[in-house]
Amino acid sequence: MFPTQRPRRLRTTPAMRRLVAETEVRPRNLILPMFVREGVTEPVPIASMPGVVQHSRDSLRKAAAEAVAAGVGGLMLFGVPEHYDAVGSAGVDPDGVLNVALADVRAEVGDDAVIMSDCCLDEFTDHGHCGVLDESGAVDNDATLAVYAEMAVAQAEAGAHMVGPSGMMDGQVGVIREALDGAGHTDTGILAYTVKYASAFYGPFREAVNSQLKGDRKTYQQDPPNAREALRELALDLEEGADAVMVKPAMSYLDIVRVVADNADVPVAAYQISGEYAMVEAAAANGWLDRDRTILETLTGIRRAGADLVLTYWATEVATRLT
Ligand code: PBG
Repeated sequence: MFPTQRPRRLRTTPAMRRLVAETEVRPRNLILPMFVREGVTEPVPIASMPGVVQHSRDSLRKAAAEAVAAGVGGLMLFGVPEHYDAVGSAGVDPDGVLNVALADVRAEVGDDAVIMSDCCLDEFTDHGHCGVLDESGAVDNDATLAVYAEMAVAQAEAGAHMVGPSGMMDGQVGVIREALDGAGHTDTGILAYTVKYASAFYGPFREAVNSQLKGDRKTYQQDPPNAREALRELALDLEEGADAVMVKPAMSYLDIVRVVADNADVPVAAYQISGEYAMVEAAAANGWLDRDRTILETLTGIRRAGADLVLTYWATEVATRLT
């Protein structure tokens, strides 16, 4: 008699499959990235991310409340300013769009979800780089750190529970921790973009934030062929005081999510970025994929790879579906 081993027994009925499922996606695991644009009174659609918008201050508050009502665990805010300059002043200004939006959202949802802020300069600089430039036009790591420190304090003061340094400058976590502590914000956390690759999948995000970037980020974001330096970045961020660490993008880097999850003693997040969203939406719009199943499968895969938390533009929709 062959076969004597029959793994299919555990797949026979929906109840059996539900009973033995190892990985779950729950609303509380999800973080919704949100864009808020200065000077608009209506939400502005983002063509390359169907279903995602640049919010007005009002629509942001509403969407934040909806996400939290659906059980979403966190919100990550990005600002789209009206005015850009070489040093990204609008990011540091307490009246800058991101900071006022953080205050709005904090007033709206309080402590019912974890409010997070992108702590980076690219949304605010007229050259679109994640840092300030030196005379030669290169990104000046250490001069940038001073700006990040100021920005993190402004975001904490505006109401962020956690700041998310995403610029991949060396030393950013340590400098931000010191600045927050120095300003009395010892309870404000750092969700560090610890492992961030120079990815083509960021394409639609450039439209989402009206990015001014010419060129690329290859001198600061990691090179896709490399895995080992992810562990080095992880060790440094943990030493510098990261409360949680992130891998980004998610789907083309699931091996990295796994290795970070196996080596981190803090929660691990993965960011399912704009291009990952766009490609599923585009294929589904063509009738080439079953949209709802595909979305859940991508999130399940990211969780199975070891991510505790997943940033996804589908957070509210999926949370609603799961409850
Ligand atoms: C940088 C930042 C980027 C994203 C989040 N933070 C863009 C980049 O590094 O080029 C991308 C998010 C996405 O593509 O969904 N502040």
